Amino acid sequence: MPEQVPPPVRLRPEIAALPAYKQGKPAAAGGYKLSSNENPFPPHAAVLAAMNEASDINRYPDASAFALREALAARFGVTADEVHVGAGSVALITQFITAAAGHGDEVIHPWRSFEAYPGQVTVAGATAVPVPLRPDGGHDLDAMAAAVNDRTRVVLVCTPNNPTGVVVTAAEFEEFMRRIPGDLLVLLDEAYAEFVRDDAAVDGATLFGRYPNLVVLRTFSKAWGLAGLRLGYAVGPEHVLDAARAAALPLSVTGQAQAAGLAALSHETDLFARVDHIVARRDAVLAGLRAVGLAVPESHGNFVWLGLGEHTAAAARILEEHAIVARVFAGEGVRISIGEAESVDELLRAGEEIVRNLPGAVEASR
Ligand SMILES: Cc1ncc(COP(=O)(O)O)c(C=O)c1O
Repeated sequence: MPEQVPPPVRLRPEIAALPAYKQGKPAAAGGYKLSSNENPFPPHAAVLAAMNEASDINRYPDASAFALREALAARFGVTADEVHVGAGSVALITQFITAAAGHGDEVIHPWRSFEAYPGQVTVAGATAVPVPLRPDGGHDLDAMAAAVNDRTRVVLVCTPNNPTGVVVTAAEFEEFMRRIPGDLLVLLDEAYAEFVRDDAAVDGATLFGRYPNLVVLRTFSKAWGLAGLRLGYAVGPEHVLDAARAAALPLSVTGQAQAAGLAALSHETDLFARVDHIVARRDAVLAGLRAVGLAVPESHGNFVWLGLGEHTAAAARILEEHAIVARVFAGEGVRISIGEAESVDELLRAGEEIVRNLPGAVEASR
């Protein structure tokens, strides 16, 4: 008798159809991995030492990350209960969406923006409502406010926006918050806040305590150089953070990550000097790419965006010939992280070649 094949395991259809998160591609030996907006500097010695000291890994970590929350609270002038720590800000985003939105609810987010957003909404069981960016790569906050309805439970704002790098200004954000109902959760995702050099940009740290519906999300992954340890934090009203804490996977922030985060905070001067180098490289990349004719949005993150449309795949090949692996969004553009000092000249040479070899690329970038 033929063996009976059991029917496939029943899964939620929207999850079965959901592609897994795609990580930036690694570079070949000697190449530059500019595909994940990572910090190119090696770990700080004091951070490594603190991490190694937290060696009692036979014990569970402090589930509440109390010492780190206290340090962050002192830094921002809030209470430790108004700080929540997660295994990367991506974990926090999931917790807040899950806490506020379920089946039948909607979550508004800018698009194109951080790739994880739509999938996180789907996993929560809610419906993602993407709102296209303005032509300059900034948020269309008018359209986002206009998309709010009775089913809306969360609005995500990403500044600087990944992948365009464009910031939301303080004035734009205030006007937006005036239009948003006070019982609708707004998540201000500032993963790249430390790279911003624009006085007009919104700064979540100046808004704590001002809005009962605002949570600010930041990460140790980028400026602080701890991407591999997975550490992010949220600052906001205690009862909203309590809901995220309830939705969190328990014990997912390791003791080593907590120790490293504390050490990083106490070596801010060294680490922010590195951030200044990255910002200088970013500005050199922006100026160099513009000098060869490419239109590049004003980035305040540790990356730049080339919206090359149909020339995207060919441009990515040219970048790879220059040993640069970027993040490619087929048919839309490439996001290139700011990496090692040596990668800057190589990137500018690739930019020249893109302009020389791809007729139409300059026009497409506008
Ligand atoms: C806009 C934005 N938010 C959140 C994250 C997640 O960062 P992490 O989970 O490493 O803190 C990223 C990572 O690239 C990002 O670009």
